[in-house]
Amino acid sequence: MIAIGCDHGGYEMKLEIIKYLEQNGIAYKDFGCTTTESVDYPVYGKAVAKAVAAGECEKGILVCGTGIGMSIAANKVAGVRCALCTDCFSAEVTRLHNDTNVLALGARITGMSLALKIVDIWLNTPFSDDERHVRRISMLEE
Ligand code: RB5
Repeated sequence: MIAIGCDHGGYEMKLEIIKYLEQNGIAYKDFGCTTTESVDYPVYGKAVAKAVAAGECEKGILVCGTGIGMSIAANKVAGVRCALCTDCFSAEVTRLHNDTNVLALGARITGMSLALKIVDIWLNTPFSDDERHVRRISMLEE
């Protein structure tokens, strides 16, 4: 189950990501927002991050204007490793090395096709499970 959330700046991109999830038979839970009316990104960023940290959802995807506010909000929640990605290489390597469990995207930064490619790569790349990466990730929680 993928937790998904956005603010007004990310609303339209979130709808496209939801279409991608539905087309690929991936279950999701939408934590809002539900319109393009101005809202506060921490509300949605933290809701998605808490669902992932609690194990209610396996991974989360967040979209705001830049992706920055959402990534800051998500990374405040213990157990969450959120990566703001604007390119395919980062999307792949952050799964392999950081085992990120939340992806943040900036709808005013990254074009729709690239964003969907980033989502696809991020969702389909497993953690490498290499000892050095396991060790480094555990150090993040110390
Ligand atoms: C909203 O205007 C904008 O600040 C928000 O979407 C995001 O970019 C914050 O980091």
